[in-house]
Amino acid sequence: MIETSDVTRFRELLAARLGWTFADNDVPHLTQELLRRAETNGLAQGGYLRRLAAGWGHELAALAEELTITETYFFRHGEQFRALAGAALPERMAARATQRVLRLLSVGCSSGEEAYTLGIVARDLLPDPGWIISVLGVDANPAMLRKAGRAHYSAWSLRETPDDVRERWFHPHDSTYEVDAGVRAIVRFRQHNVAEDDADLWRPEQYDVIFCRNLLMYLTPDTAGALIARMTAALAPGGYLFLGHTDSLGSRPAGLEPMHSHATFYYRRTTAPSPAPPPQTAIPDVVRIAPAPPEPTRAPEGILTLIHQERFAEALAESERTDRSGPRDLLVHGVLLAQAGRLADAEMEVRALLDANGLDADAHHLLGVCLEGGAAVDVAIGHYRLAAYLDPAFAMPRLRLGLLARRRGDHRTANAELDRALHLLRDERDDRIVLFGGGFGRIALTTLCRTELGTAGAPR
Ligand SMILES: C[S@@+](CC[C@H](N)C(=O)[O-])C[C@H]1O[C@@H](n2cnc3c(N)ncnc32)[C@H](O)[C@@H]1O
Repeated sequence: MIETSDVTRFRELLAARLGWTFADNDVPHLTQELLRRAETNGLAQGGYLRRLAAGWGHELAALAEELTITETYFFRHGEQFRALAGAALPERMAARATQRVLRLLSVGCSSGEEAYTLGIVARDLLPDPGWIISVLGVDANPAMLRKAGRAHYSAWSLRETPDDVRERWFHPHDSTYEVDAGVRAIVRFRQHNVAEDDADLWRPEQYDVIFCRNLLMYLTPDTAGALIARMTAALAPGGYLFLGHTDSLGSRPAGLEPMHSHATFYYRRTTAPSPAPPPQTAIPDVVRIAPAPPEPTRAPEGILTLIHQERFAEALAESERTDRSGPRDLLVHGVLLAQAGRLADAEMEVRALLDANGLDADAHHLLGVCLEGGAAVDVAIGHYRLAAYLDPAFAMPRLRLGLLARRRGDHRTANAELDRALHLLRDERDDRIVLFGGGFGRIALTTLCRTELGTAGAPR
């Protein structure tokens, strides 16, 4: 026997803990589920509901495995991937030309097909290994994430995948297809429940592209509103948001401008001031976005923090306001000028630094960064070598030398430099990772080295 009030309570808890909304005709199914889960856990319904109300991560994951709709396939709604390849990514590549990093996120990634498709499209567009591409897929359903990690799919999952893509990026094994290691290496998966916050996942202005398709429709208005606010804030200005066909935000979503190309709609984060980070708790329907309050003047360490948070424009403004009499202030300013694409200004700043001290390893590394993007790659290599020579513990020039060698097809040098970088990264100074890591942390850079070492000769 089960009380109606227990099922009502179960429905409320699913809304509060997992952000789900259910129609009244789902009640019979929810009733069966409540009975089954309480019994599996050896509890009466009342006791089960009390534990669920207190927060019970393991059980929430089990419910996600049982109750989510996980339908997905590679290149689902191909027109969106054509817009990605034909409009969004080329623009983001131009915006990131100095940093040469691209970050993509698939929210509600299910068994991984969407995240791998993002990786394939980015890889096809950016064959240059000098770029760092990362794709993160998040979902609340651990069973789907395990499948995503295995990266083996049936032919049915590839039903919309163009033949040439299938040949390039998949390897047939018995009756399944395995995603190529070159794509697997740039795609990661993480368990995340969108009804909860995660400061790292939603760090402001970090993603170039977010796909969140066929998830919002299962969420309560509060959860969907909070998720949209988080995604908007986490997109870099000018970054792109792709939703499912039935997930419209209306014509005037806060912080986003609607776009149309390749027979599909999507959104672009406006380049106006940053939206305030969303509150910890769910917010109502309306996405609450307000300009950030003016910040007090910061010491260089404060500027480093801003760089760490990838708030480059604010960091540069702060650095311009600060007295830059010391070499460290000049170096930080030079890094910020380079980040902003003002390479000639950055070069001037760093040359002034080197005039004062020609043995400054950081300055040589930065000069390499300034020169690498232009025609002077060989000169850049010389400065990276000098930086590595002047400070044998400096990992970052080794990393750049390794990537450049890989790009030129010199795999022997690439492997040697990347191997060295991998060892040195463990003890690399934090400030050097913030200044020269292109927005990537120690772990991500280590993974990059491992990936590059592991995929030498793999198709790109
Ligand atoms: C229909 S699939 C969408 C897959 C893919 N985005 C696509 O469009 O092909 C919806 C996914 O959202 C996930 N999901 C549902 N509720 C979630 C939550 N609270 N947090 C994170 N993921 C959730 C489900 O586990 C499921 O894998």
